Amino acid sequence: MTVKAVVFDAYGTLFDIQSVASITEQAFPGYGGIITQIWRIKQLEYTWLRSLMRRYQDFSVITRDSLTYTLRCLSLQSDPAVFERIMDKYLHLDLYPDVRATLAAMHGRKLAILSNGSTGMLNALVRNSGLDRLLNATISIDSKRIFKPSPDAYSLIEEQLGAAPEETLFVSSNPWDACGAKAFGLNVAWIERVTPEAIAEACVRNDLIAPLTMFKAIRTQMDELGLEPDYRIHTLSELPALVAAHES
Ligand code: LAC
Repeated sequence: MTVKAVVFDAYGTLFDIQSVASITEQAFPGYGGIITQIWRIKQLEYTWLRSLMRRYQDFSVITRDSLTYTLRCLSLQSDPAVFERIMDKYLHLDLYPDVRATLAAMHGRKLAILSNGSTGMLNALVRNSGLDRLLNATISIDSKRIFKPSPDAYSLIEEQLGAAPEETLFVSSNPWDACGAKAFGLNVAWIERVTPEAIAEACVRNDLIAPLTMFKAIRTQMDELGLEPDYRIHTLSELPALVAAHES
């Protein structure tokens, strides 16, 4: 079967999302690493949560909200200019070093991006990096109002490029995206940039933040989804009084 189209994920596959660390570290010395990791983890999580809740907001809103969450959970205050400077890096992410040569070597096939990024963010990013000269299309999932790995998102490839799933090779370094594309029926190349051996070695070198701190930062703080619980309590023992007060 000929490969009619090669379609790439954007963030983490062609563009290095870790490259925001230089800006986050400049803005908050000593915190660059932790901000960068929590930000990305929450950003992805919000795409899935919003898809499941059917409360779509585009990726630029989600990227802002997840940065707000990250700074709040670390008790870091930023003035609006600093916040915008960090956000702006998302429109100027570094390319992985082999991107241009790889795309140029496949010239002649349909080459495209399919990304959860919003149309505006992706167009700016692709233009700023010069990839617009090497790609035939940049497809945002915006029009479907649901994020990858929903099948609706991957269906945009055939709709917009005219390439059937079996004629398409989808490329992602994001494991959840590679699985989503596979579940949809695309041919998939997963880029394994990080090996388990490298992770094990990093643990031995102790160059990770305490895992429990990471868990607390990611899983114990209220999310930025525009929804507020009616009550905020700290122990279950507060409940009986709360229920009684609610009824009165
Ligand atoms: C993308 C992300 C979310 O779709 O990796 O580009």
